[in-house]
Amino acid sequence: MTALVKVLSAVSMAALIATPVVAADAPFEKEIEARQAHMDVVKYNMGILGAMAKGKRDYDADLAGAVAKNMLSAATMNNMSMWPQGSDNSVDALSELTKAKPGMWAEDSEAGDKHNAWVKASETMAAEAGKDLASLRKAMGPLGKSCKGCHKAYKAK
Ligand code: HEC
Repeated sequence: MTALVKVLSAVSMAALIATPVVAADAPFEKEIEARQAHMDVVKYNMGILGAMAKGKRDYDADLAGAVAKNMLSAATMNNMSMWPQGSDNSVDALSELTKAKPGMWAEDSEAGDKHNAWVKASETMAAEAGKDLASLRKAMGPLGKSCKGCHKAYKAK
């Protein structure tokens, strides 16, 4: 063995021995954090559209169009990996971390339909928001309903 290899292997042995045993993270912590962050971005974009719809913020066609496109992008991202089976709030270790109800993963789950309703409402919003304020307002109802429809069924209070 050359001196360099000896040094390197001594270092890596030491690293192996010194690696502390880290307490295991709650299962699916990363996935839960990511999907909540995703939902927060959705809320941010929704907030701009909502403020314009309510007249709390001046209507700006370019911004409305951009934000509505973000909403559609968010709705159509393939986020399946962020929603693994067993990452619901009935799991003891996760009850403080997530509000996702187990029904989301049940045989008879309608989460897919609820998600599709969101995509559809986002498509309409993306097509309408940049036209004028009246069009944005018209698209707002169904979009808001699509969030509530899923939250009511699958998100704990
Ligand atoms: C297909 C179902 C579904 C749709 C559609 C949906 N959500 Fe959610 N949302 C959830 C679930 C489930 C959670 C709880 C996630 C968790 O805690 O792990 C959640 C959580 C959230 C949160 C809390 C995030 C956090 O930091 O904990 C916000 C805000 C949110 N959603 C906003 C929205 C808005 C706004 C829309 C519509 C534009 C929307 N959601 C559409 C299922 C959905």
